[in-house]
Amino acid sequence: QRAEIGVTGLAVMGRNLARNFARHGHVVAIHNRTYAKTQALLDEAGDEGTFIASESMADFVATLERPRKVIIMVKAGPGTDAVIEELAGLLEEGDIIVDAGNAHFPDTVRREKELAERGLHFVGSGVSGGEEGALNGPSIMPGGSRESYESLGPLLEDISAKVDGVPCCTYVGPDGAGHFVKMVHNGIEYADMQLIAEAYDLIRRGTGKSPAEIAAIFREWNSGELESFLIEITAEVLAQDDARTGKALVDVILDQAEQKGTGRWTVQNALDLGVPITGIAEATFARALSGGVPQREAARAALPAGTVEWHVDDPDAFVEDVRRALYASKVVAYSQGFDQIAAASQEYGWGVDRGAMARIWRGGCIIRARFLNRITEAYERDEQLPLLLADDFFVDVVSQCLEAWRRVVAGAAQNGIPTPAFSSSLAYYDGVRADRLPAALIQGLRDFFGAHTYRRTDADGTFHTEWGADRSETAVDGGFT
Ligand code: 6PG
Repeated sequence: QRAEIGVTGLAVMGRNLARNFARHGHVVAIHNRTYAKTQALLDEAGDEGTFIASESMADFVATLERPRKVIIMVKAGPGTDAVIEELAGLLEEGDIIVDAGNAHFPDTVRREKELAERGLHFVGSGVSGGEEGALNGPSIMPGGSRESYESLGPLLEDISAKVDGVPCCTYVGPDGAGHFVKMVHNGIEYADMQLIAEAYDLIRRGTGKSPAEIAAIFREWNSGELESFLIEITAEVLAQDDARTGKALVDVILDQAEQKGTGRWTVQNALDLGVPITGIAEATFARALSGGVPQREAARAALPAGTVEWHVDDPDAFVEDVRRALYASKVVAYSQGFDQIAAASQEYGWGVDRGAMARIWRGGCIIRARFLNRITEAYERDEQLPLLLADDFFVDVVSQCLEAWRRVVAGAAQNGIPTPAFSSSLAYYDGVRADRLPAALIQGLRDFFGAHTYRRTDADGTFHTEWGADRSETAVDGGFT
């Protein structure tokens, strides 16, 4: 008997993916650098399906049917190259290597190219949903050649989460597209979490409610339009008491947010592409600020708040305002993320279908949410939609939230409560909808000090004012820039 698919790297994600395949009736080859982990899987879950265990990579490869499909689930980084190299030496033309870790997409582009030259398919695949998702149905974002998807796709779709019977897995696009889309998913995940954290902080400081009381609010929000995995687990975390002190757990967790790098990569790439993903960037920087211990100590000791004590007159109305501010800011964050996917798809020639991405994020992944259906529908209405925020449905949402959003951001500013994601999302909203932006003045200044030229509203071409001489204007036509 041969295995339909192999998994190497049996830490918790790899192990759970392997079990998921086995539970779906697929024969799974398993391998790990040290055999102990392989044995542990067999001991604990060997009866869930058919596993073929191997001690050596060569034996592992030999147990697979052709074209061989091997999923690598190792920590992203140089270790991945070593595993790929070892595997590639044992595989034959047409075989498929799947990197299901959180690799940085430029690495995936490089690896795909190198392996294609050796006749192998390399599939960089995003997998979201954590341990639980890997076992019970993740959202899967595979890139690589279309040809590889023909034999690999059905297997991945089979183990993915399903929403209304539709798999949360689809072909994303060539080479780095799958890992890119997963990276942006994580960027949105950062923004979502920051927005939730700001909402919690505002309610707590505005109304004096306890974490347990705020947990109840999130539970209620989760039965409405904000329904999502992250809102659901926020209620869980806020309701949790600390066994050691009896306090709310959230009050004893150190307030320094860490990251493994996908948010940072998202922002770095957005800077390269010139896409304003301000919500995601603020969320990423907010984590950095929280971890800047010496800076926070110096600031805490020296900087006044300059605020008056805050009274929220009507706590229920305030909570509803915060809910609306959260919803509107969330729409902005997703709109920005989808903008980035569009820009990257254009720049790297990937042809990513944004509606399909929203569809496969409806289930299985960390940002799964009821409103992703609405995003899919928006792209079904207009595949080329230039701005998600400007789709009719989201125009309605934001219009209904706008007054509350402004009240919340203004109140937060007046009361010294940091809301970087709420505030920057609102600033983006006002910026992107503005008739005129002060960018005109920036162009004037650039022309003044560096003859960088400007374009006019009323004539074609490029112009320069002779600032140091008689201030007459000359048409430059592509000159100085
Ligand atoms: C997922 C998650 C996952 C990611 C964690 C941690 O989709 O399952 O995005 O891939 O590793 O969320 O990310 P940070 O450590 O960067 O917060």
